Amino acid sequence: MKTQILSQGDTLAAAKILKAGGVVAIPTETVYGLAANAFDDAAVKKIFIAKGRPSDNPLIVHISKVDEIRDLVQDFTAEAQKLADTFWPGPLTIILKKSDAISKIVSGGLDSVAVRLPGHPVARKVIRETGFPLVAPSANTSGSPSPTSAAHVIADLDGKIDAIVDAGSCKVGIESTVVSLCEYVPKILRPGAVTFEQLNRVLGNVKIDDAVLNPLGEGVRPISPGTKYRHYAPKTKVIILKGDRDAYVDYINNIRSVKNVAALCYDEDIPYLKVPAISYGRESDPNLQAEKLFNALREIDKIENVDTVYARCPAQSGIGLAVYNRLLRAAGFNVVEI
Ligand code: TXA
Ligand code: MG
Repeated sequence: MKTQILSQGDTLAAAKILKAGGVVAIPTETVYGLAANAFDDAAVKKIFIAKGRPSDNPLIVHISKVDEIRDLVQDFTAEAQKLADTFWPGPLTIILKKSDAISKIVSGGLDSVAVRLPGHPVARKVIRETGFPLVAPSANTSGSPSPTSAAHVIADLDGKIDAIVDAGSCKVGIESTVVSLCEYVPKILRPGAVTFEQLNRVLGNVKIDDAVLNPLGEGVRPISPGTKYRHYAPKTKVIILKGDRDAYVDYINNIRSVKNVAALCYDEDIPYLKVPAISYGRESDPNLQAEKLFNALREIDKIENVDTVYARCPAQSGIGLAVYNRLLRAAGFNVVEI
């Protein structure tokens, strides 16, 4: 299949492909999503095939107006309405009990559904012009870092999808916060740009799922099937070093046992490092770290003859928690205190 590259002004062409049962990568403010008509199971199945995604990993349904959620869920609860009023359009995904309009293919066999109203105007325009809600997982090959530019989508999915709408790079850079309202106490299944602190202020009480910062225990079934799978990982092995700049620089510059080492660090670390280094932003700017992380992970694989990359550990408050969560998964939870 030839993958068409569409400009962001060409949303009608994207909508036409989607209405005909095709799959199109679209920009959102978080990452690019691989979209299909949420009510067309044959189209939705194409997403799983193109990404190589396990069929038990459910998809997020994207809408263009708040009211569109009512057909997708059993009950648009008062809590959910409060979240929608405060954070939509934006990088927040809300999980509620699903209605019969949502097929098992979309929900991965669960009785719940994840819904998001994206902040990116091009995403909303494509949904509106298609006339259906769109399911859209991140538009990467399953397991690799999520795509924050059309070039990333092309690197993974060229020839496997009908089209890409190119609207430049994504401002947030990491996927939406996923919060489940199906638990006794609302629970963050995936941290993102809508932070724990912000959700706590609106809901009064919110928990962070264990799987956000810990590897899954043997035989444990996660609430979010996505956390079961290896994710965000470049081909190069990633190890996180937890410590300040002096300790980090010292550790890397004195590694003797391993050859072919690189650093995934802050801008300010670079002048002190004697190995090839890729920055994922400034130390004081966690929003920039989120924006740059996935591109940096992809860049690491382009450095020649590097087997292991040592990552500077991000701070864990606010959006930093989301950056840390993605890096932990990229590293397979391999963290060294220095
Ligand atoms: O920012 C985003 O959320 C992007 C853009 C394209 O909107 N989408 C995205 O989708 O990241 P995806 O499929 O890559 O990640 C969705 C995550 C997965 O880990 C999945 O397991 C979880 O949300 N999820 C989806 N529906 C769920 C449900 N009903 N219950 C629990 N977890 C669910
Ligand atoms: Mg994904």
